Amino acid sequence: MNMSFKNKTCPEYFELPSIGESNLGFISVAEFPNNIPFNIKRVYWTYHTPENVLRGHHSHKDLYQLIFAVSGTITFYTEDRHRNKQEFILSKPNVGLYIPPYVWREIKFSHNSVLLCLSSSEYSETDYIRSYENFINSLKDNNLFIDII
Ligand code: TYD
Repeated sequence: MNMSFKNKTCPEYFELPSIGESNLGFISVAEFPNNIPFNIKRVYWTYHTPENVLRGHHSHKDLYQLIFAVSGTITFYTEDRHRNKQEFILSKPNVGLYIPPYVWREIKFSHNSVLLCLSSSEYSETDYIRSYENFINSLKDNNLFIDII
């Protein structure tokens, strides 16, 4: 894990270079440790998500993620350890979202969008917090809650 990213507690946009030109097309590359902060253990993608559903509704405890809308537009509604609520709109294939642990997220998809997720760990259901109440409680219980007052 890249140390400057290890201390980040909020989600943020993460841009990768676009190699190419418009008359030929483009390629973007994620390569650890060259241009991404963690080693990739798992890649998954989601597709054919209806426009009228909100997915997500969870946080992770240890997982680091880099998420791209490789097609279409994907909107993330996040809440982090600071209780800071943000909206991130992913609509360029080379501009993703870096999500550290303990970020609650809800996700909306445009028609035909494809979400690509690069993850720091293998799938583990025990790493999920799937209830918002448990998310807030676990911040308090683990002294992770950073009070903004
Ligand atoms: P989930 O992460 O809950 O998706 P979302 O938050 O977008 O609704 O995953 C949906 C289902 O897929 C859940 O039953 C677990 C399964 N799953 C895996 O088996 N492996 C994986 O790597 C992921 C991401 C999900």
